[in-house]
Amino acid sequence: MDKIIVEGGRPLRGRVEINGAKNAALPILASALLTDGWNTYHNVPGLKDIESIKDLLAQLGAAVESNGRSVRVNAAGLCCPEASYELVRKMRASVLVLGPLLARLKKARVSLPGGCAIGARPINLHLKGLALLGADIKLEHGYVEASAGVLKGNEIDLDVPTVTGTENLLMAAVMAEGRTVLRNAAREPEIVALAETLKAMGADIQGAGTAVITIEGVPKLHPAETRIIPDRIEAGTFMVAAALTGGDIEVVNCDPEHLGAVFHKLRQAGAQVRVGDGAVRVLGPETLHSVDIKTTPYPGFPTDMQAQFMVLMSVAGGLSVISETIFENRFIHVSELRRLGADVMVSGNTAMVRGVSHLSGAPVMATDLRASASLVLAGLVARGVTEVRRVYHLDRGYEAIEKKFAQLGAVIRREKE
Ligand code: EPZ
Repeated sequence: MDKIIVEGGRPLRGRVEINGAKNAALPILASALLTDGWNTYHNVPGLKDIESIKDLLAQLGAAVESNGRSVRVNAAGLCCPEASYELVRKMRASVLVLGPLLARLKKARVSLPGGCAIGARPINLHLKGLALLGADIKLEHGYVEASAGVLKGNEIDLDVPTVTGTENLLMAAVMAEGRTVLRNAAREPEIVALAETLKAMGADIQGAGTAVITIEGVPKLHPAETRIIPDRIEAGTFMVAAALTGGDIEVVNCDPEHLGAVFHKLRQAGAQVRVGDGAVRVLGPETLHSVDIKTTPYPGFPTDMQAQFMVLMSVAGGLSVISETIFENRFIHVSELRRLGADVMVSGNTAMVRGVSHLSGAPVMATDLRASASLVLAGLVARGVTEVRRVYHLDRGYEAIEKKFAQLGAVIRREKE
């Protein structure tokens, strides 16, 4: 296992290029299962999770070819519709093959993903929606056994605007007979990106990006070529790094439209945020102000930016109240940040962060993807050396993050544990 060693105290300056979005690439790669020809995807990020979904597609019988940041997938040879526990436990987003397998083969056997560090993360709403489309769903031996004679459009009201639930149901409905109306759908940019790809494949979808999505089933879809949208969470992570280190970073290849809530909080904290065309320049202030945060579904403040923002608040003047409303256990990074000197009290889904004059470097342990990013951020501003261990969590969602920070002036390196 690798670890990242970072020496804090340097303002980060320069230009950083943002990669394609992991959480857009995963459902879009899964959507290739809906066709029997070559789909081509550009700007695919080089991440562990992308390797995992490519392995899964190959295991299902699809042909997968990679060439740098372009990936081609041909599911003509789709044969065994089973996503094994071995694969799904490594990456819960593997459940995204459930909808397309049902749509294409009318059967699927997918391991239940189980919980993860940040919460129980059930998929009950995915399954309820698929059942409303006519699928017969059985849960046996830790697997979802789904089958359908025919999938028929229906009205589906989601209790929670689940992101991958919306994506699974979109992919299940595009070739169902008749109309499907998905209410309380997730509105994330990654949903819009998937819908645009499905429409390029011949699907009839209206309302993606709003809370009500209408899908008119079509008999067949054809392959398409698409470019993955920029990763708004990677972009936001570097913007926080600029604010945190009193730096000046130009974040390019990002879509400012996707980051309104993050800009708002960065500005409240005292950073300058200059929005350009496909690029954003963030300048950190002399002193940071405390800001209250509440994570909510898009377009609210993203839960995937909560840990990063907590680091910012840990060295801001005053008290910040951070409410995590999406996941029940997404404060795991708090105990590690405390080792670095942060003053954080957690009560239920609320964290009270009292700013301190400085953090001090220490060995810390990564536990989940975004918590790992927050520990690297903390190391960038802590006095002395911070060692972040178990960075395989980080590699799932950030491509060579230490190289990008080094290019911005950080003293940071990766070592074998
Ligand atoms: C997606 O996860 C993202 N992952 C997560 O990013 C992100 O944090 C999350 O959306 C919220 O924005 C991908 O897109 C691959 P949800 P997802 O279903 O779809 C409850 C990262 O760091 N729920 O929107 O699994 C659930 O328990 C990852 O890149 C049900 O109760 O999240 C949670 O409390 C972490 N039943 C809430 O809804 C269901 O059937 C939101 O979950 C589904 C969800």
